[in-house]
Amino acid sequence: MTVIVTESYEKSCQLVAQKIIEQVKSDPHSKLGLATGGTAENIYPYLVTAYENKEVSFANVTTVNLDEYIGMPSDNILSYRKSMDDWFFDKVDIDKKNTYVADGMNSITEEIKIFNEKLYKDKLIDFQLLGVGVSGHIGFNEPNVFLTSSVHTEQLDEVTIKSNARFFKSEKDVPKSSITMGVGDIMKASKIALVATGESKFEAMRQLLLNENIISSCPVTVLKMHRDCTIVIDKNLADNIGYKY
Ligand code: GLP
Repeated sequence: MTVIVTESYEKSCQLVAQKIIEQVKSDPHSKLGLATGGTAENIYPYLVTAYENKEVSFANVTTVNLDEYIGMPSDNILSYRKSMDDWFFDKVDIDKKNTYVADGMNSITEEIKIFNEKLYKDKLIDFQLLGVGVSGHIGFNEPNVFLTSSVHTEQLDEVTIKSNARFFKSEKDVPKSSITMGVGDIMKASKIALVATGESKFEAMRQLLLNENIISSCPVTVLKMHRDCTIVIDKNLADNIGYKY
């Protein structure tokens, strides 16, 4: 893992956006693994600006998103599909047919099949963007006695429900389950970049950055095994957890 410590969360977003832009410029047919969540949201405006400035085109890019809530209609403002459309896909020249966010309303067996096709047809993911959950999850791979390698459904951890309640009217409106890439799917990406910021992520980042353990009770720690993974944190996070840089 390479760790980059930036001046601020905004700088982290800018830096990761630049990595995505470089990826697409070096291979216009890149397959990108994309993420939602409050942390990732602020990366997309930089990609949109680069497109508007004619610095990059997404016309030949394919995307696969990490996860979606089960039972969430794709036109709901809180769905990950709608979020991706609003933040990114509808603002650039990407062909929407080449974007995939799991359909949380489809039969689970059917959707897992489609998800796998999207992940593995033609090529593997070239660049995977990640955030991390307060629980230490990546995608929606929650802490457990074991982790699951391939696409599957996952019950959301209590901690995740509480954390994601900020997007919903109340905690009871947060969906209880999700469909997500497995940790094996994520680890197959050629390159990974993870952005983390804020106090709620301190514990997960301590487990990732301050020891050598890989533990299923903190799924993000699997990234220690990846060959080309960049962790981007801001000074505030680094200083607070005692990460030396
Ligand atoms: C969400 C998503 C993850 C995301 C993470 C962080 O629930 N399933 O893919 O990376 O949790 O979210 P946030 O950045 O809002 O804390």
